[in-house]
Amino acid sequence: MKHIFQKGTDQSKPTLVLLHGTGGTEQDLLPIAEKIDPEANVLSVRGNVLENGMPRFFKRLAEGVFDEEDLVFRTKELYEFLDKAAEKYGVNRHNIIAVGYSNGANIAASLLFHYQDAIKGAILHHPMVPRRGIELPVLLDKNIFIAAGTNDPICSSQESEELKFMFEEAKAEVHLHWENKGHQLTMSEVAAAKDWYLATFNGA
Ligand code: MLT
Repeated sequence: MKHIFQKGTDQSKPTLVLLHGTGGTEQDLLPIAEKIDPEANVLSVRGNVLENGMPRFFKRLAEGVFDEEDLVFRTKELYEFLDKAAEKYGVNRHNIIAVGYSNGANIAASLLFHYQDAIKGAILHHPMVPRRGIELPVLLDKNIFIAAGTNDPICSSQESEELKFMFEEAKAEVHLHWENKGHQLTMSEVAAAKDWYLATFNGA
């Protein structure tokens, strides 16, 4: 997968895997990684699917209606890419935190829905429930931060609560942060994500 790798100054820190929203690129979330942890490795990935020229991480049939077969295929593709990238860049495969926005948050959530060992935690900005009707792996010791908007036209507040509930049922630790805004990624939710990251991983 097309990506950027930036080696961090402190190899005891997690590697932040950045996953952009629809129509974005691997450049988009670099400033956010810099805010979350300027010392961490950064692996920023571009989605392999194009929708009218806009990069995405998996196909959809309509807005908010996902192509499940492609979602499963692309989730595996990303999982395998993380394996290969960790080996290539010599980073700790077990110390990866995904940071995703919108479509990127959805594929990060899908990694957690399908694999017990894909990532150690996630910062999900405006995720949706990626799939329903499957049993999640046991997500004990996984830490998940969700930022949601009370007026998000793409993801309702009920859906954000449902996602939190599903992760908690799978034994993950979830923090749900609300913004009185829509689907946009705000600087105040990034600040909240940073506080959560520092409190949860103690910067390590
Ligand atoms: C998706 O397709 O993943 C969601 O609708 C969010 C987005 O617009 O990317």
